[in-house]
Amino acid sequence: MQGERIGNIDRIRENLSSSGQEHLLRFWDELGPAERAGLLEQINELDLDKIAGWVETLVKRAPDVPVRHDGFEPAPSYGVSPATDAERTRYAQALQLGKELIAAGKVAAFVVAGGQGTRLGFDGPKGNYPASPIRNKTLFQIFAENIGAVSRRYGAVCPWYIMTSPLNHSETVSIFESNDFYGLNRRDVFIFQQGTLPNFGFDGRILMAGKASVARSPDGHGGCIRALARSGALKDMRNRGVEYLSYWQVDNPLVKLFDPLFVGLHALDGAQMSSKAVIKNDPKEKVGNFCLIDGKVNVIEYSDLSDELAEKRGPDGSLAFRLGSIAIHIINTDFVAKLNTEGFTLPLHRAVKKIPHIDPQGRPIEPVEPNGVKLETFIFDALPMAERSIILEIDRAEQFAPIKNATGVDSAESTRQMMVERAARWLESAGVAVPRKADGAPDCLIEIAPSFALEPEDLKPRRDQIAAIQPGDQVYLG
Ligand code: UTP
Repeated sequence: MQGERIGNIDRIRENLSSSGQEHLLRFWDELGPAERAGLLEQINELDLDKIAGWVETLVKRAPDVPVRHDGFEPAPSYGVSPATDAERTRYAQALQLGKELIAAGKVAAFVVAGGQGTRLGFDGPKGNYPASPIRNKTLFQIFAENIGAVSRRYGAVCPWYIMTSPLNHSETVSIFESNDFYGLNRRDVFIFQQGTLPNFGFDGRILMAGKASVARSPDGHGGCIRALARSGALKDMRNRGVEYLSYWQVDNPLVKLFDPLFVGLHALDGAQMSSKAVIKNDPKEKVGNFCLIDGKVNVIEYSDLSDELAEKRGPDGSLAFRLGSIAIHIINTDFVAKLNTEGFTLPLHRAVKKIPHIDPQGRPIEPVEPNGVKLETFIFDALPMAERSIILEIDRAEQFAPIKNATGVDSAESTRQMMVERAARWLESAGVAVPRKADGAPDCLIEIAPSFALEPEDLKPRRDQIAAIQPGDQVYLG
């Protein structure tokens, strides 16, 4: 037995050594049995053949792939509202179809929540961040209440799939358990984990987080395609007859889940993966740009769009490349299954980061400057693999307010402000007077629970339940 284990470790050491990673066993002799087992498990998960390739092409230097600055065409899109009679008919059909699909239980909610949220610097899963302006409801609670309200409206089961990573899975599960799944049926909430990839120093050596642990990070939101299949989530969807996933990111509390118009346009057009888009604020706004490459919808980095193309304008003066990606998609379960059977891979992207690790003496290092490379995949790289893909423009102020940073742009503060502004607009559209300051901002705090209204039209019939609002009031409608 002992001999076998030693033989085994020798072989592992040899394999590691031939890919330049033998240092992962540097502290082997100091480790107890449980630590050894844990470390071997992590080493076992490393695809050493592939890693050797990544080190040369992605880690030691940025990839050689020439950045393409041509061949991009603007991608077509559906406008926020229909502009012609033909479009009005199409939107009406789509809305009807979308409602039927939701009512038939063919649409599921799918949030990716496996990220590390380093920019926000919040302790714990980002979904547990208190986001709402008055009740401080967490992101998870806001989404859960939305799902509950949609489910009641359509009389349908609306299952919710949540992707975590090994770094935040058990904490996420405990949060749901201790909150009694926010009133949802726990059988309809499926929490599963994505994979991880090792972190590297610039010399190509995998960093160690501790003497018995490899430094690793989640494999990006693109990791969901594989994780959906591996975790059994896809099978669960099939058993339930779910055909469409309403995909969003955990940091956006304004997201309109189960949007019947979006689902309907996607289904009517026979698309496999579709996207919502905002109109960019300026030509070089730092968002992914939708464009067509060889007739397929792609999202390219803002840095890959030349100044000339970024500034290009159409006859009406609007930007030719005006559609920015906000990571809201409809994805067909069949498409996810097909990608998995075809042994697909999404391209790996390189991110230079500050990565805590231990040095060769085992001392912990908290780098102040970027010291290594993380690799990840992006969900939007699956778009060109779809035969058809539509884009629906949305009004940013209504549906997109990501919490990325602790302060400033895209922060909890700016998101709260946008939640209040949206609630104020909804109330005004229902004929409720909202006190405003000289600069036009609401002079009050307003929070509308999803159970009270999912969209502005829900407020009119409840008009008599809303008291007059005075300057400085805190108004919670729930
Ligand atoms: P971000 O790109 O904002 O990354 O993720 P992040 O990890 O949350 O935050 P930073 O960059 O460390 O500050 C966008 C969405 O994708 C999810 C996140 O949870 C968020 O919903 N995501 C990201 C994953 O689910 N897995 C990943 O590996 C990365």
